[in-house]
Amino acid sequence: MIQVNNLTKVYKLSKKQMAEQKTKKNMKKAVDNVDIKAVPGEIYGLLGPNGAGKTTTLRCIATLLKPTEGDISVCGLDTVTQSEGVRNKIAFLTNEIKLDPQFSPTYMFRFFGRLHGLTEAQINERMKVLFEQFGITDFKDKKIDELSTGMKQKAAIAVSLVHDPEVVIFDEPTNGLDIVTARTVTDYLKELRAQGKVVIVSTHIMTEAEKLCDRIGIIINGQKVMEGTLSQILTETQGEDLEDAFFRLYEKYNTEEVR
Ligand SMILES: Nc1ncnc2c1ncn2[C@@H]1O[C@H](COP(=O)(O)OP(=O)(O)OP(=O)(O)O)[C@@H](O)[C@H]1O
Ligand SMILES: [Mg+2]
Repeated sequence: MIQVNNLTKVYKLSKKQMAEQKTKKNMKKAVDNVDIKAVPGEIYGLLGPNGAGKTTTLRCIATLLKPTEGDISVCGLDTVTQSEGVRNKIAFLTNEIKLDPQFSPTYMFRFFGRLHGLTEAQINERMKVLFEQFGITDFKDKKIDELSTGMKQKAAIAVSLVHDPEVVIFDEPTNGLDIVTARTVTDYLKELRAQGKVVIVSTHIMTEAEKLCDRIGIIINGQKVMEGTLSQILTETQGEDLEDAFFRLYEKYNTEEVR
């Protein structure tokens, strides 16, 4: 289970960042008092526009950032005081983490398998299953550098799952993928759900959230402004579809005073 309690994350901005963001304030509240609970057998979707705080939230859950306020537990372990335990339980995928371009998918898979303490036999077994699942076998020994965007993404996903983690945290997993490759990824996330894993993804693709996620948390300017199943969100907003519901919420909450 993932439990996020009153998460607030404030970034301290450098002079350069202040100039870039055209602000006089040297602090940016990227996540503002957010609660999230995601349970085994569920795909929870964080939906929000650019800069809403999705990646920041997921990085806090994945132990890569410390909350400014609030706390997070993953499988009952605290992400700050028990971060190593948490890292053994999770797969984390984000666009900012790139596989080393000079190595092959096979090399990276073995490297991370050993890092997680798997035996060679376990690594080979997992590699067979995951490389077949994602169609990586044909290019498994090519340099990452020589692979297409989709191939790289599939390799990164397979590597992130080497240790068969209980919790899967994927930041925009289908970003930049064609519909065929995107479907391979979303189908696999459904399979992980069927296996009883906890899955949390971020996306700004409405149709993906509609089709894939059991529950959706809509995040605007760092605040979770609504949460529920698709039908709950449509009922509450009186929106025709998720895009319509989203725009209603965006008009209501994207105001100067909350920014
Ligand atoms: N390292 C950082 N230092 C300062 N500000 C940051 C940093 N990382 C993110 N921010 C700011 O925090 C806010 C939230 O960013 P975040 O990357 O979490 O958004 P996001 O919802 O993932 O957006 P996107 O859809 O573009 O990926 C933005 O205003 C961003 O500029
Ligand atoms: Mg992001």
